Amino acid sequence: MKEPGDNGMGLPIMLQALDGHVPKRTPIWMMRQAGRYLPEYRAVREKAGDFLSLCYTPDHAVEVTLQPIRRFGFDAAILFSDILVVPHALGCSLTFEAGEGPRLVPVTNAAELAALREELDPGKIDRVFEAVARIRAELPREMALLGFCGAPWTVATYMVAGRGTPDQAPARLVSFIDPPFFAALIDRLVETSARYLIGQFRAGADAVQIFDSWAGVLDPEAFRRWTIDPIRRIVAAVRAEVPGARIIAFPKGATLSGLTELVQATGVNGVGLDWTADRRATRYALGGKCALQGNLDPLALIAGGKALDGAIDALMEDFHGAAHIFNLGHGIRPETPIAHVERMIARVRGS
Ligand code: CP3
Repeated sequence: MKEPGDNGMGLPIMLQALDGHVPKRTPIWMMRQAGRYLPEYRAVREKAGDFLSLCYTPDHAVEVTLQPIRRFGFDAAILFSDILVVPHALGCSLTFEAGEGPRLVPVTNAAELAALREELDPGKIDRVFEAVARIRAELPREMALLGFCGAPWTVATYMVAGRGTPDQAPARLVSFIDPPFFAALIDRLVETSARYLIGQFRAGADAVQIFDSWAGVLDPEAFRRWTIDPIRRIVAAVRAEVPGARIIAFPKGATLSGLTELVQATGVNGVGLDWTADRRATRYALGGKCALQGNLDPLALIAGGKALDGAIDALMEDFHGAAHIFNLGHGIRPETPIAHVERMIARVRGS
C-alpha cells in the first residue's frame, strides 16, 4: 500500500484519501446512491419483481450499481446489494415488503442459531461476487469500487427482532438475558462477514465499508463488546488474506470517544460520520489517523437551495486540507430531488 515517498498519485482519489493523502479534489459518493430516488432504478426494480432478485441477479445488480455513476460521475461505485444478504445466505428466511422494510424469521436462542448454516450459501453469494467482477470490469479505472457488509451488531439486531425497530430493544435485551447465545451469534457473523468481504476483494472490490447503522443505541461497554471488537476481528481476518485491504467503518450514532477508540482498536482506513458528528472536534481527534467520510444531513439535500449550499460550504471548510471523502450522514432518501444531487456535486467540485 503506502510506500515511502508515494503520494498515491495515479490511484483513484477515493483510495488516495483512504491511504491518508489529501487528493487534489475531494472524492464524493453517496450512501444508497443506487435507489428509489432514481427513475431508472425504479424501472429495473419493477422488472426484477422483488428486491432480493435484484440483489442476486448479476445483470440487474451491475446495472443499478452503474446507474448513479453514469448519471452523476461519482468517484466511487458501491455494489448494489443489502446487508441482510449475509443472514439470508446463512439460511434465515427474508422478505422485503414494499414500503415496510425487511422481515426475517427471528433467531433468538441457541437452538435457532444451530439450525442456520455455518458458512454462507455459495449459491447465493457467488452471484454477488460475479456482480462485483462485472462491475469492476465496466467501471472506469479512476473510479473506486466499494464492497460492503453490515457490522455484526447491526445485522444481529435485525436477526433477533426479525425487522427494524425504533431502538433495536429486542437484540439489546437478549444480549443481557442470554450473553452466550448472543456472543455465538456475533461470532458467526464475524466469521461469515469476513469471508464475504474477502470474496468481494478477490472479485475486484477496491475497498469495503462496514455499516454499523445501529451502533448508536449501545452503551460504552456494549459498544466495545458488540461494535468495536467484532469489527476489529473482521478487519484482522480480512487483512490476513488480503494484505493492505482498505476498510471504512460507519458506526452510525457513535460518540467521539467511541469513534476514537474504534479507530485505534481496529486500524480502519476511514470512518463514516453521521450528520450529528461534531466535525471540528472529530478532525482534531482523528485527522491524520484515518480518512473522515461524511456527513451532510440527508434532509439538507431534500431542502436544496441556500440551505443546502450553506451546509455544504460549512462542511467543506471544516474538512479543508484533511483526508476527507464527501458523503451524506446516512443514506439518501427516496423523496430527494435529483436536481439537488446535481447541485451538491457541482458545489463540492467547485464547478
Ligand atoms: O448504498 C447503496 O446504494 C448500495 C446498496 C445498499 C442497500 N442497502 C440497498 C437497498 C446498501 C449499502 C444497503 C445497506 C443497508 N441495508 C443498511 C445499512 C445502511 C443504512 O441505511 O443504515 C441497512 C440497515 C439495510 C437494511 C435494509 N434494507 C432496510 C432497513 C431496508 C428498508 C428500508 C428502505 O430504505 O427501503 C432495506 C431495503 C433496501 N436496501 C432498499 C435499497 C435500495 C430499498 C428497497 C426497494 O427498492 O424497495
